Amino acid sequence: MTPDSILELLKQVPYPGFSRDIVSFGLVKDVSIDEGIVTVTISVQTNDASVPEQIFKNCHAILDPLPEIKHARIELDVQDPATQANTDAAGSSAIKNTIPGVKNVIAVASGKGGVGKSTVSANLAVALAKAGHKVGLCDCDLYGPSIAHMFGSRERPLATEDNEIIPISAHGIQLMSMGFLLEEASPVIVRGPLATRYTQQFLQNVAWGELDYLILDLPPGTGDIQLTIVQTISLTGAVIVTTPQEVALIDARKAISMFDKVNVSIMGLVENMAWFECEHGTRYPIFGEGGGAAEAKKLKLPLLGQIPINIPTREQGDAGTPVALIDPAENDASAAFAALATSVDQIAQS
Ligand SMILES: Nc1ncnc2c1ncn2[C@@H]1O[C@H](COP(=O)(O)OP(=O)(O)O)[C@@H](O)[C@H]1O
Ligand SMILES: [Mg+2]
Repeated sequence: MTPDSILELLKQVPYPGFSRDIVSFGLVKDVSIDEGIVTVTISVQTNDASVPEQIFKNCHAILDPLPEIKHARIELDVQDPATQANTDAAGSSAIKNTIPGVKNVIAVASGKGGVGKSTVSANLAVALAKAGHKVGLCDCDLYGPSIAHMFGSRERPLATEDNEIIPISAHGIQLMSMGFLLEEASPVIVRGPLATRYTQQFLQNVAWGELDYLILDLPPGTGDIQLTIVQTISLTGAVIVTTPQEVALIDARKAISMFDKVNVSIMGLVENMAWFECEHGTRYPIFGEGGGAAEAKKLKLPLLGQIPINIPTREQGDAGTPVALIDPAENDASAAFAALATSVDQIAQS
């Protein structure tokens, strides 16, 4: 029996709620063995008392039955996450956290799912990177993460010695997905306050490094996770994605009012699936004509971009190479994303 063999055994202990174990998260700080007495030192940052409790129980459940071990001592060093000190329950008057090294944090939101929010997030990130910025992209959708897929990444992130998760680099973008940390088999397990806590821990624990832009692909709607993010992180602004259709616009208004309530400025609207252009150059407004543009005007918000529907946008997304990687001269959606990146950059710098 060696500290390494104990460490190997402790890989069976999951971090409560996550598929990753406490060893690969880097929480086990020390293992020592002295005459059959094993001492394991674990450090965990949480304000949820049940987390250390469960880790404690699970470590004992694995080590206690071993005949070679006389006694197992699990020493837990529990620290409050720094975010807690800065965030009051209501959130509205909270001091929000900046993310060290990150200049601008932009939330991409929509009221409705399926309007192309992840597609816009991914391509905005790529277009900003092509314009020479250092860009990170975080998929905050616990229930339907898609960013890793859109970047063709199947890698899993690793943790640093200080329990920070290292983003994955793909097409020059630093990628992180909340879904990485959850059980693949049972994705829909986190709800309500638990989702809030995960989100806070998650956002504070990624080693982003130096970034000009961090794009957050929010889940659709205005639920717990969205509110947590807009309340805990100091955002440069929000970009609202909609299609020209009235049903999408109704939900976009709800998203806008959520940001208004928590004093996050709306950078503007993106009208996705604005039209389809056939090979003869005729434009067909599949989801209606100019709904996004009219809405932006009504709400006195900038229309940041209009993105056409085209097959490469969907195909390239599915293939893991976002359409914005293509030369804008060769693809109208790529050109539209380049223009969107320019608008976003101008507003962020102003
Ligand atoms: N402009 C577009 N042209 C063609 N397909 C698109 C476009 N925008 C999104 N899609 C496709 O529509 C589907 C939904 O988009 P997605 O970005 O996943 O939406 P959301 O994140 O809002 O749920 C995806 O299959 C995507 O490839
Ligand atoms: Mg999505």
